[in-house]
Amino acid sequence: MTRFQQDYPTQAMPISTLTSATLSLSSKNTKTTTTPYSSTAKATSPITYTLYYGTFIHTPRLSELEINFNTLVGVNTFGEIDFIYKNFESNNGPQSPVEFFKSQYNPTSNISSLEAIEFVDNSRDLTKFFFPGFIDTHIHASQFPNIGIGLDTPLLDWLTTYTFAVELKFGVPLDSTDDLEKKIEIAKLVYSKIIDRTLSNGTTCASYFTTIDPETTNLFADLLLQHGQRGFVGKVCMDHNKSYPTYEESLSECEESMQKIISHCQMVNPPGETLVKPIVTPRFAPLCSKEMLRYLGRLSNEQDLPIQTHISENKQEIELVKQLFPESESYSQVYNKYKLLNLRTILAHAIHLSQKECDLVAGQKCSISHCPTSNSFISSGEAPVRKYLYEDKINVSLGTDVSGGFDTSILQIVKHAILVSHHLSMKDTKDVQQSNENCKLSISDGLFMSTLGGAKAVGLKDTVGTFAVGKRFDAQLIDLGVPNSNTDVFNWQLPFDGGADEDQTRRQKVLNLLGKWVFSGDDRNCVKVWCNGRLVIDKEA
Ligand code: GUN
Ligand code: FE
Repeated sequence: MTRFQQDYPTQAMPISTLTSATLSLSSKNTKTTTTPYSSTAKATSPITYTLYYGTFIHTPRLSELEINFNTLVGVNTFGEIDFIYKNFESNNGPQSPVEFFKSQYNPTSNISSLEAIEFVDNSRDLTKFFFPGFIDTHIHASQFPNIGIGLDTPLLDWLTTYTFAVELKFGVPLDSTDDLEKKIEIAKLVYSKIIDRTLSNGTTCASYFTTIDPETTNLFADLLLQHGQRGFVGKVCMDHNKSYPTYEESLSECEESMQKIISHCQMVNPPGETLVKPIVTPRFAPLCSKEMLRYLGRLSNEQDLPIQTHISENKQEIELVKQLFPESESYSQVYNKYKLLNLRTILAHAIHLSQKECDLVAGQKCSISHCPTSNSFISSGEAPVRKYLYEDKINVSLGTDVSGGFDTSILQIVKHAILVSHHLSMKDTKDVQQSNENCKLSISDGLFMSTLGGAKAVGLKDTVGTFAVGKRFDAQLIDLGVPNSNTDVFNWQLPFDGGADEDQTRRQKVLNLLGKWVFSGDDRNCVKVWCNGRLVIDKEA
């Protein structure tokens, strides 16, 4: 029996009877830690019109992997793609790609500022390609120090043994200025590190959980802007933690904190841009009173804010929800009752959904964040993702779920999503309610979920996730030939330009390279990263 089961009442308790041991923030300690926007946002620094040339790979639709060779992409001074020309053949005429661009580009526009050119020569740089930035739709920034800790501890015990303790470091009860300084210091250290790590792995946008603490959550929003990553900032909301009462808040404290964070994000975003956005984050039903769920549903609705939470990760957790919310037919119906399921909702894990719940999630147009490394590490289960995508028509994205998950890289999550799906395919059919072959995810499925699937989940499908005119240039340059990396490409595996390789052969060779990237690549192959058209990581410099 877990501590959760021992400590929770079998019937849900009205909030008025719950005692909260919450953070007491005295007014002297509630000063904000940052100043209003002061041009420190890396992803809005001034840039010149930039022309990119090379192989561009993306997934414009589920199960469609597009490889565009010899492609020119123009990115304007707002970081927006405003020119795409595919299959430019350098040997077809005297013009270079740049001269061609200048002759084609709308002459009324000002391109006198065209200076920087990222030129990947398709006849020489055969191991390089551009790919959209990854989108991580479920990650706990505050749990970063715990990566690798707690193997095989079931969810509810894992929370009380490891997780609440590390999150509490960001929200020590504030009795003195020393306490404030201590938590700010920890937050700066941990939050800077995880943003650096994820960016360096090609993640240009992520939906984060922080902790219940508003001051360090606001600091986290500032750090996202400073480092140049798009981010959804989720202060964890939880007012019903009987299993670990030192880590919870009251409903009114939660309301006050949410207002602070909403105002702060409005204040720090650069003019005309929304790079950081608050996201309504009920941690999960077992830790929220009904009043809190109702408030959060209303808040999201009134302020047009996205929502993220956990659902059906672990069978004990599902039982607990049944006990706490006996009036609801299912876990999903609990969230639905409080108006927390809609187009802007990201449901993390969703491993053990009934068919009725799948229909509800699909009908409400929610997205799932699949977190395979976490699901393996803490033995939560194997989500039938291919079924969700192709039969239930649910949008599925990917999450690292640090630190239930042990890796900050979405590339690794693509790999594990595919491997878990293969394990599912080796199981008895009746366990997974579908034919075995239908469980297997392809590389294209994985890459779709890591980019456009993620963009849909966070409500940015028209802004990022693929290369298209009008979208922002959030991208990574991958090089499989980078010295000292883990990827080895042999001469006969290179996709030569033009004559030597027919188009089909060339495409097949690139598909093979994508296999090498997903199964043996890592952050060393991600040599440059752009967010909003701005170069934020450059390992070639
Ligand atoms: N369910 C509630 N909180 C958490 C968390 O922090 N991580 C995971 N994996 N599941 C949760
Ligand atoms: Fe999680």
